[in-house]
Amino acid sequence: MSEKVKIRLKVNGEDVTYEVDAHMSLMRALREHYVWDVKCGCEVGECGTCTVLLDGQAVKSCLTLAAACDGHEVWTNKGLGYRDPLTARLQEAFVECGSVQCGFCTPGMIVAGAAYLKHGGKADRAAIKNIISGNLCRCTGYVKIVDAIYLVAKEIEEGRLTA
Ligand code: FES
Ligand code: FES
Repeated sequence: MSEKVKIRLKVNGEDVTYEVDAHMSLMRALREHYVWDVKCGCEVGECGTCTVLLDGQAVKSCLTLAAACDGHEVWTNKGLGYRDPLTARLQEAFVECGSVQCGFCTPGMIVAGAAYLKHGGKADRAAIKNIISGNLCRCTGYVKIVDAIYLVAKEIEEGRLTA
C-alpha cells in the first residue's frame, strides 16, 4: 500500500487540505478532489491539457508531484475565469475566435495563454505559437487558438485590458 501524505494548498483562492498518495501527481490530486477542469490527457507531459498555474507559473500538473506542492498556490482555468478578468476575457476570446471544438485541450491552452499574457507576452504570433508548443490540439489546427491569444494581447497593448 502506498504511503499517504497530507498537503495544504490554496486552490483557486481557497485553502484546502488533501490527503494524497506520496507518488501522486498534482493532476490526480486535483481531479480526486473534484477539480475536473484540469483534464487528464497523456499523463506523461506531452499534451498540456493538465496545465495549471503553480505560484503563477504554468506547469503540467501530471508531471508535478502533489506532495511537493504543500504550501503552494494553484489556479486552474475555471478558477481563473471566475476571479481573474484577463483569463475571463481570454475565455471569451476563445469563443469569439472559434478556438474551441471538442474542448479537451482548451483548459490547458487558456492557462498557458493567460500565463504568457500575465508575464508581459506581446501580440506576436511566433511567440504565442512557441508558448503553446507544449499543448496539443487534435481539432482546430491551432490558428484560431493563436488568434484568440493574439486578440487579447492586442487589447492589452492598446490599453483596453490590464494584464
Ligand atoms: S496530461 Fe499532462 S501533459 Fe498530458
Ligand atoms: S479543441 Fe479538440 S483537442 Fe483542441
